[in-house]
Amino acid sequence: MIQSLTLLGLESSCDDTAAAVVRQSGNGAAEVLSSIVFGQTELHSAFGGVVPEIAARAHAEKLDHCVRDALNAANLKLSDMDAIAVTAGPGLIGGVISGVMCAKGLAAATGLPLIGVNHLAGHALTPRLTDAIPYPYLMLLVSGGHCQYLIVRGSEDFTRLGGTIDDAPGEAFDKTARLLGLPQPGGPAVQKEAETGDPKRFRFPRPLLDRPDCNLSFSGLKTALMRMRDQVAAEKGGLTRQDRADLCAGFQAAVADVLAEKTRRAIRIYLEESPNGPAVAVAGGVAANTAIRALLETVCSEAGARFIAPPLALCTDNAAMIAYAGLERFRNGARDGMDLAARPRWPLDQTSPAMLGSGKKGAKA
Ligand code: KG4
Ligand code: ZN
Repeated sequence: MIQSLTLLGLESSCDDTAAAVVRQSGNGAAEVLSSIVFGQTELHSAFGGVVPEIAARAHAEKLDHCVRDALNAANLKLSDMDAIAVTAGPGLIGGVISGVMCAKGLAAATGLPLIGVNHLAGHALTPRLTDAIPYPYLMLLVSGGHCQYLIVRGSEDFTRLGGTIDDAPGEAFDKTARLLGLPQPGGPAVQKEAETGDPKRFRFPRPLLDRPDCNLSFSGLKTALMRMRDQVAAEKGGLTRQDRADLCAGFQAAVADVLAEKTRRAIRIYLEESPNGPAVAVAGGVAANTAIRALLETVCSEAGARFIAPPLALCTDNAAMIAYAGLERFRNGARDGMDLAARPRWPLDQTSPAMLGSGKKGAKA
């Protein structure tokens, strides 16, 4: 038996203000007692992207409400917590500061220990919260702000095998939707159109497949799409519904193919060190895409690896993952002081070279 621990988590690194309570009981089972997320989509929709200053102000306004709601939903008080975990980066600096300041205030007022958490570590440890999988496992983060392959060996031990050198895949879906006049967020809209489209009609490139590494690139797909759209429009004087569906299907198939092939390569590297009981997990909004998910599942089963996709509410930005990552750090003896810094950039793997890509929601790694 281990000591039962209950943590409050705070998240405010992008455009979701979130608080959650997570408990790990003596038998090791972790449970999300509450998870509150206030999205900011409407605040930013007129601007076509997240406006950092608006985001920071909204976080500062909403965080204490989120904390109250999370404690109420868990039917607990601050005095029932063992520690307070907060995203200390990477992300939009104003939002990260809002969260860190709120957590410091709560820690100072209650005397509870403060734990700074890397947002990406929160995503990367989620399969342990939801499925209790053992280390090491392979993680693919695919969202509007992130895209990377990580071997996760411990709560603070990550090796990045590769990542995007430009756009994140969710960002590419969102831009594609914008180019075709579809609503935001673009991923679900493009997926829906793609269902009735012919993925073979337009020949989209498969970027970086000629290179043997696990790096990816998505910005060229959007440029290709724009050219194809303009060509069809010039020939026919406009796009039909079928043209749009075919463009979406071709684009989605290209993203899925690239992710599948790079995942095959990442699995091969991972299997060299972990041939027994391999597990591959995905997180991020793009993991909701049924075509991409199905292809990744096939790739994993061909490689003899277990495939884990946490429920969507825990795949996208939330504070339960921050509370859980903080809980693992706390168990390992980590404690932060009032000098905990907010870090806009904070790569999980400090040894691998910095990536060029940042994602639509700010520098992520
Ligand atoms: O993880 P997430 O909620 O937020 C961050 O980016 O941090 O991911 C949102 C992204 C958006 O770009 C959205 O278009 C994409 O995930 N997305 C999808 C789907 N659902 C959401 N992309 C492709 N297919 C989907 N079904
Ligand atoms: Zn995230």
